[in-house]
Amino acid sequence: MKQENQNSPGIAEEVLAVLRCLSCKASLRQRADALACEGCGRTFPFLQGVARFVDAQHYAGSFGFQWQVFARTQLDTGQSHRSEVAFRRRTGFSPEDLAGKLVLDVGCGMGRFADVATRWGAHVVGVDLSLAAEVAARNLADRSATFFQTDVFNLPFASESFDYIYSIGVLHHTPDCERAFKLLPALLKPGGKIAVWLYSGYNRWYRMSDLYRKVTRRMPPRLLHKLCYGVIPLYGVHQALKKVPLVGKPASAALAYMIPMPFNPDPKWRVLDTFDWYSAWYQSKHTYEQVFRWFESCGLEDLKVIDQPIAVQGRKPISAERQRERGAAEVEQCVG
Ligand SMILES: C[S@@+](CC[C@H](N)C(=O)[O-])C[C@H]1O[C@@H](n2cnc3c(N)ncnc32)[C@H](O)[C@@H]1O
Repeated sequence: MKQENQNSPGIAEEVLAVLRCLSCKASLRQRADALACEGCGRTFPFLQGVARFVDAQHYAGSFGFQWQVFARTQLDTGQSHRSEVAFRRRTGFSPEDLAGKLVLDVGCGMGRFADVATRWGAHVVGVDLSLAAEVAARNLADRSATFFQTDVFNLPFASESFDYIYSIGVLHHTPDCERAFKLLPALLKPGGKIAVWLYSGYNRWYRMSDLYRKVTRRMPPRLLHKLCYGVIPLYGVHQALKKVPLVGKPASAALAYMIPMPFNPDPKWRVLDTFDWYSAWYQSKHTYEQVFRWFESCGLEDLKVIDQPIAVQGRKPISAERQRERGAAEVEQCVG
């Protein structure tokens, strides 16, 4: 597949082929400054090399800030493969699955998982409501990847376009997680697979943070970012408390209940995770029962629970008619 530099708006043919106008669903043509609809003439401008299908970040502004500040923090390096490990644990996909495939990354952020999927040989189409789409385009400018700023509730793609779809840590940050999920299977090719990872609703450790978030999500992102540095010393307090015999562990648990925080050993990831947790406007939590019902109601089959809760993968069935067609084509190929 073609490698392209998304800082110049050169969109691969296979991606152009699946793009559709948000207004009339006709195909889009690439111009130097915009994607233009061949039906109604509506245009979607390129800014910083990224086509925009929304004119604002809406409720996702905190994520735009977050991914500009922590633009490369979670990208894998020669020494660390944490994103690749997380990708496997949250999607169940392997390099053999994705190699050579057209893959949709819903809510791509700064592109940490698109980085993994492109290393595995996929062509990734990443979409994000926030300015993170720009950051991802910059981070992965030399990859087989295309990024769009667009809304999961109004995606500019033809049905049955993608071989694989994944959405990691995104749909629970929309106003309606279930509705957002149910829009995605239509974009899968028959036989294609989808995987989502959502916050778990089983463990109630976050109860107090639900209260604090009522205030923190309204704070200017810059201020909240500064406040998040306050959690760094707390991590040391927890480590020290855990060493105190008998009372140490209960005291640490009580502190964690009062001030819920991520326990990532890397201080920069800890600040990022804390900001992410306390800044998002929407944050819902889910159970396997719920998510399985959504998958089943979309007719997905071969459902699998993946390693890290709540992670579910499913496959879009191939209709009986398509199976017959494929069978006939295979027979023809064998005979021919
Ligand atoms: C917690 S971040 C996860 C980013 C990335 N998947 C990762 O794991 O690094 C959630 C992302 O979802 C995006 N998002 C939220 N609502 C969205 C929507 N309606 N459409 C597209 N993206 C959305 C945010 O802008 C943000 O970048």
